[in-house]
Amino acid sequence: MSSPILVTCGLPYANGPCHLGHLRTYVPADIYVRSLRKMGRDVLFVCGSDAHGTPIVVNAEAQGVEPKALVAKYHRHFDEVFKGLGVDFDIFGDTDDPACHNRTQEMVLALMEGGHVYPKEIELAYCPTCQRFLPDRYVEGECPYCGKHARGDECDMGCGRHLEPGEIKNAVCKVCGGKAEYRKQVHYFFRLSQFKDFLLKYLETLGGTASARNYAMEWVRQELKDWCITRNMSWGVKFPGSSDLVVYVWVDAPIGYIAFTEEWCAKNNVDWKRYWKSDSRIVHFIGGDIVYHHCIFWPSMLKGAGYTLPSAVVASGMLKIDDKKFSKSRGNVIWVKEDYLDKGLHPDLLRYYLASYTAHNKEVNFSWKIFADKVNTELVGAFGNFLNRALTFAVKNFEARVPHGEMDQEVMERIEETTKDFVSAMEEYEFKKATDSVMSLADYGNTYFQSHEPWKLVKGDKARAGAVLRSCLQIAKALVILMDPIMPSKMDFAWRQLGLEGDVSCKPFQDALEPMIAGQPLGRPQILFSRIEEATVQGLERIFLERVEKAEAEGRIVEKKRQISFEEFSSLELCIGEINEAGRIKGSEKLLKLNVDIGSETRQVVAGIAQWYRPEDLVGTQVVVLTNLKPAKLFGIESQAMLLAADANGKAVLLQPRESVKTGTKVR
Ligand code: MF3
Ligand code: ZN
Repeated sequence: MSSPILVTCGLPYANGPCHLGHLRTYVPADIYVRSLRKMGRDVLFVCGSDAHGTPIVVNAEAQGVEPKALVAKYHRHFDEVFKGLGVDFDIFGDTDDPACHNRTQEMVLALMEGGHVYPKEIELAYCPTCQRFLPDRYVEGECPYCGKHARGDECDMGCGRHLEPGEIKNAVCKVCGGKAEYRKQVHYFFRLSQFKDFLLKYLETLGGTASARNYAMEWVRQELKDWCITRNMSWGVKFPGSSDLVVYVWVDAPIGYIAFTEEWCAKNNVDWKRYWKSDSRIVHFIGGDIVYHHCIFWPSMLKGAGYTLPSAVVASGMLKIDDKKFSKSRGNVIWVKEDYLDKGLHPDLLRYYLASYTAHNKEVNFSWKIFADKVNTELVGAFGNFLNRALTFAVKNFEARVPHGEMDQEVMERIEETTKDFVSAMEEYEFKKATDSVMSLADYGNTYFQSHEPWKLVKGDKARAGAVLRSCLQIAKALVILMDPIMPSKMDFAWRQLGLEGDVSCKPFQDALEPMIAGQPLGRPQILFSRIEEATVQGLERIFLERVEKAEAEGRIVEKKRQISFEEFSSLELCIGEINEAGRIKGSEKLLKLNVDIGSETRQVVAGIAQWYRPEDLVGTQVVVLTNLKPAKLFGIESQAMLLAADANGKAVLLQPRESVKTGTKVR
């Protein structure tokens, strides 16, 4: 028996709904697993929710619920969405399960016993107002490497580096907005630096996408610093022997892969060690943004604690929507449940899109137009059309049975070739290549039917027509078996139309060449794919565009600034002034030049209000003036103060005191 294969998918954070970007990991992984099963391999497919980490705690706090409840909610959501899409994990666990707590503690202890973990005093961001240390997402500041604005654990706007606790500069508390200080505390470190030679060798042999391997190799060659594996929090897996530290989420999350395997094995009476402590083949499907964790941290931990190393890391490219970078905050997002499944769209259409759009490591662009186009031309026009044509013709002219007649050898060869291409593309994680090979068999089928003109033959030479049809039905059978991993539910429907026995998902790829039996009854032809109409596309696009517009509008209003102290506010010098002269500025449609009396003196002010106020109406008006703003030249004219105005959808409305006061009166 060949060694077992374990396929995993990066664990989604149970912190928000599933979006299209997530699916670039899960759908191809599911296609891969279904294909392996059709190659007769022994595969286990595991995933689960990532329950820990600061974002979940921060989010739960904001919603006024316990982290446990928030995790449970999104855990159910992901489970439901995956089922709805036919992403068929053997187990979908949760890293807060006891199995994961236990396995994490066991592994951390093993690493400690092996001398791979040591304590060290470090300086960490601490908020004096909140009286707490500030792990990861609780703190923001400057990246020590590139100087860009960064979060505590990641330079997300700049160089993308993972940041160690205490590394961030000019730290500010995310909760109260106050300036953080740095305080000393003992934390635990994993001796990652000692795994450099191991990693360089290991990465040479690592399978999966070349981009992941090369990227990781580059990091290892450059720098490998020891890794802080503890955090000041209560939500998470307790660090052995400590009451106030938990392990960093990136320690227990991948250990979830092992824990879920154990949970499944316990239920199915299998020894979990066959996957994690023997020569199994472990394949991780992940998003391109977590290569570092899977190719560097994770194998080193496994090596240090004595577990089986992953054979392959398959990293997907990013997703774009309408050619724009995916972004939840900008509304540039498609929610899988709300925008797709709940709209009654068939899951297999989206699976097909994701598999066939481009190579796995490249960027996928999603738009409803392309979606409809692919469905209408490729699935309705080519694939579905061929199946329907062949089946309908046989049903009408051959009493709904597979006709007798010699199978065309050229057809059999073509099927054999396609099957080979498909399998080897799958083995190389080339999902587009695999899908394309099936689609070109569908094109071949259409051409075969068209050029052999069975509708003419059937009138004179019925036996010849029968042979043509039997060959066409063989192509149809092959198409359904090969396409099954990509569109399992549609192919199940097609399989039954062909009158074939059993469950197509259990049929091996070789069965594509097992001849259709002459005389065997066919099922009733039914439409497999329906066109997506223009009106539907417009409806879907409208929902998306409205979300983008709404996010834009909200972004203008709730652009949140950090909290400031009263002292900071007091540094603004504001007073009531009176406009005593006003005039236009030649060549500018927007600016007015004003002289404003502020009691002690008169200031020249250039204000961008010409579109809304006539100079003559302003003279004698009292306004609020900021008088200690650095002077600036606008249109070559010096402005020595600024008038305050409300921004009413882009229109400036001047602020005035409710009743007339002495010029120069302070504003506080
Ligand atoms: N939750 C992480 C993310 O979404 C992925 C965790 S994958 C695992 O980026 F390896 F840690 F499990
Ligand atoms: Zn604070």
